[in-house]
Amino acid sequence: MIKGGRVVDPRSGIDDILDVLVERGEIMGIAPQINAENAVTIDASNKVVTPGLIDMHVHFRQPGRHEYKETIRTGSRAAAKGGFTTVVCEPNTVPPIDSKRRIKAVLDIAKSESIVNLYTKECITKGMRGKELVNIEEGVKQGAVAITDDGFPVRSIDLIEAAAKEAARFGIPICPHCEESRLRGRKEALVRRHYNSEAEYIKRDIHVVRDTKCSFHFPHVSLAKSITYIARAKQEGLPVTAEATPHHFTLTEQDATEIGPNAIVNPPLRTARDVEAIKKALHDNIIDVIATDHAPHAYYEKMSNKPPFGIIGVETSLGIVLTYLVQPGILSLNSAIEKMTVNPAKSLNIKRGELRIGMPADITIIDLNREWVVDVNEFESKGRNCPFNGWKLKGRAVMTIVGGRIVMDRGKIYDPPTEDPRLLQQLTLPI
Ligand code: DOR
Repeated sequence: MIKGGRVVDPRSGIDDILDVLVERGEIMGIAPQINAENAVTIDASNKVVTPGLIDMHVHFRQPGRHEYKETIRTGSRAAAKGGFTTVVCEPNTVPPIDSKRRIKAVLDIAKSESIVNLYTKECITKGMRGKELVNIEEGVKQGAVAITDDGFPVRSIDLIEAAAKEAARFGIPICPHCEESRLRGRKEALVRRHYNSEAEYIKRDIHVVRDTKCSFHFPHVSLAKSITYIARAKQEGLPVTAEATPHHFTLTEQDATEIGPNAIVNPPLRTARDVEAIKKALHDNIIDVIATDHAPHAYYEKMSNKPPFGIIGVETSLGIVLTYLVQPGILSLNSAIEKMTVNPAKSLNIKRGELRIGMPADITIIDLNREWVVDVNEFESKGRNCPFNGWKLKGRAVMTIVGGRIVMDRGKIYDPPTEDPRLLQQLTLPI
């Protein structure tokens, strides 16, 4: 029993002081003053109780040659610490997730290693080489929830159209990476036209949406210009959703120069004008989802002459959202939670992200008043590439519950999730 918390469930519109009763991994009741005499009680007074947070864009690097950067175990522990109950992994492992065999491998590892719910995307093209489509039907049957060539735009219009037709047939969205990666290191990368290429790819892909009716979810939108195109597509009623990362709505290219390698990311940090446009688009619901693009790299790699692109985010995302979007009034608490729960679930067609009787008991308990300082040395992630180290934040997840089992309690990770009655006794104390 989670007693007396402020229950915020954007899907149903609930925002009230209520009790939540959980039994055998499912939500059994949401009401004022539920009586359940034998229930273990968690006192959630002065806390916010929300659907478990969902991060639809993480790199957990397993299986494959990049497990030294992160594994499903370390990534899922980091997610639980940040209040996430569900993550969706990118397929750019080495080798990439581009077949049903590789999808199965990720999901099999997750069964024993992940303490949060874990889904995976599949590549759009074999080896993410932009030449030959994967077998989308097989991928979907094996459990892929979306397709993406993470880090690379699909340059061929014919190929992206063919992918969209197949994806629409099997009911999954495409998450196109509208990035400049393939220009990296070339002369063109220096000219201004390059700066707009995210927006140009988005514009092209919106035509594909119109022609194929396939849903597109635009990840880590970083430019004001991209938002203009997405807003128009939404006005037209096209099935598009969009996402922003905490680093793109808090940091500018100027900050990137000061921070150094830990702010090197793709898409890059942009101008102050772009940052303002993203915040406005979050407010106006042009951007539906907040996701981290959690991209861990080894410390020595980030400190090298050629630091790889990427910022980690699952342990700081909620604190950044509460401090930089909710407290200044850019987003209401309800809207912020919506963008971290039900909206990502909707864009991927997964049945999560709401507090409803009969749903899996994925729940996050948040202390809005908890002040804390980001310290990368306390992270569960293997990554330390966080540009927010040392930032003072207000608001933090204090408990993460996945399928009715506690995986994080006031910062302590329970791996495997706990059903230890001695621990549960302690939960009758206020958290
Ligand atoms: O910064 C990034 N890092 N952007 C990407 O698209 C890929 C990611 C990674 O895998 O490290």
